[in-house]
Amino acid sequence: MTLHHTPGQIVTPEELRAVAADGTRLRYALMELAAQIPDAITLGRGDPDLNTPAHVIAAAQAAVRDGRADRMMPVAGLADLRQAVAANLHAQNGIPARPEEILITDGGQEALYLIMQTLLDPGDEILVPDPRYTSYDEAIHQAGARMVLVPTYPEDNFDLRPAEVEAAITPKTKAILIISPSNPTSGVVSPASVRAIAAIAQRHNLAVISDEIYEKYIYAPAQQLSMASLPGMFERTITLGGFSKTYAMTGWRVGYVAGPADFIERLTAVKAATTGPISAVSQYAALAAATGPQEIVAEYRATYQRRLERMKQGLRALGFTYSEPQGAFFVYTNAISSGIPAFELSYLLLKEGHVLIFPGTAFGEKWVDWLRISVLQPDELLDLALERMAGVLTRHRTEGIKP
Ligand SMILES: Cc1ncc(COP(=O)(O)O)c(C=O)c1O
Repeated sequence: MTLHHTPGQIVTPEELRAVAADGTRLRYALMELAAQIPDAITLGRGDPDLNTPAHVIAAAQAAVRDGRADRMMPVAGLADLRQAVAANLHAQNGIPARPEEILITDGGQEALYLIMQTLLDPGDEILVPDPRYTSYDEAIHQAGARMVLVPTYPEDNFDLRPAEVEAAITPKTKAILIISPSNPTSGVVSPASVRAIAAIAQRHNLAVISDEIYEKYIYAPAQQLSMASLPGMFERTITLGGFSKTYAMTGWRVGYVAGPADFIERLTAVKAATTGPISAVSQYAALAAATGPQEIVAEYRATYQRRLERMKQGLRALGFTYSEPQGAFFVYTNAISSGIPAFELSYLLLKEGHVLIFPGTAFGEKWVDWLRISVLQPDELLDLALERMAGVLTRHRTEGIKP
C-alpha cells in the first residue's frame, strides 16, 4: 500500500520508535498515521463512539437559545452542577462531598494535571500502578515529582496488590494513585484491595488520588468501592471523575475533582490563573446529564459488554490471550503468540490491515507483548477489524510480511 507520507509526518517504524519512549506521543503519532489511511478502523483512543444523550444536547441548545451560554461562569463551576455532582457522589458512591468540595474541570485531563501540580512538590514520590494512563507521567514530571511504579499482574486481572503498594513506599512518598477501572487494562481494584490500601494510606499518612472516570462501566462480578467513601478517607482522598466516558461526552470537556474543601480551593486558584471556568454550554449539558434519566448509561454498558465479548471471542480465535476485562471498554491482550513484538505488530496491523490498535508500550515500557484494543466501534467494524487482523497474521506467517 502507499502511505500519503508528507514531509514531517511520522510514518515509518523508525520514526515511531523515536517517540516510543513517551506513551502519550506514541499514541498521538499512531493516530496521526491512522488519519492518513481512509478506511482505517480505529480501535485506539478511549473516546466513546456512542451518541451523547438527546436530552443533554437539548439542554445545551436551550442554554444557547436563552442567552445563558454568554455568561461567565464561576471558576469552580456552575453552582447547580457542583451541587448535582456532590449529590450523585453521595447517593451513588457514598462519598460525603459537599458542593464546595467539587471543582468542575476541562475534562478529566485538566483535573489530573491540576491535581498533580497542586499536590506534589519537587522531590516527592507518587506510587502509580503499571501499566498506566501515561498522561499522568507528564503531569507528575511537570510537578518535579517522581513516579514510582507499582506492578500489576494479568493473573490478578490487574487488581492492585496492597503488599506491593506498601513495599514501594519510601520517606519521600506523598500519594498513591489508583485508576479503577483501569486504562489500559480494564482491571478493577477489588473492594478488598481498596480497603487494604486505605489502611496503608492512613498508616503512612499518604494522600490517595482515585481516578474513577470509568466508574459506570464495571461488569459483574467486579464491584466498585470508592476510596473516599471509607471511614476517615475523604479527608485524604482526591476523587477524579467526569462526563466523557459516562455519558459519551468527550468533546464537551467536562470533568470534576472531589476532595477536601481546602484542597479544592487551592486547585481552583491554579485553575483561575490558567484556564478559568469551562464553557457555560458544556456545564448546562453536564447538568442535564447528571440530573436527567440514567437509563441510557445502562444501555451504553450493555453495548460495551456485548462488544467486549465479541472482541474476546475474536482474539481467542487469533490465538491471543487476555486478562478478563472487569470494566471500561478495553481488552488488554497478550499477542506473544504472533511472534512479533507489540510495537511492530501495531505498526503492521495499521500499515497492512488498516486497523489502529495501541501497543502495550504506550502504557508502560515493559508491556512489549501486549496490545490495548478499545471496542468503540459498531459490531460490524469490530468483526471486520478482526478479519483484517487474521489476514495480516496469516500473511506474516506464510509470506513473511514485516513491519
Ligand atoms: C484514566 C483516565 N483518566 C482521565 C482521562 C481524561 O478523560 P477526559 O479528559 O476525556 O475527561 C482519561 C481519558 O482517556 C483516562 O483514561
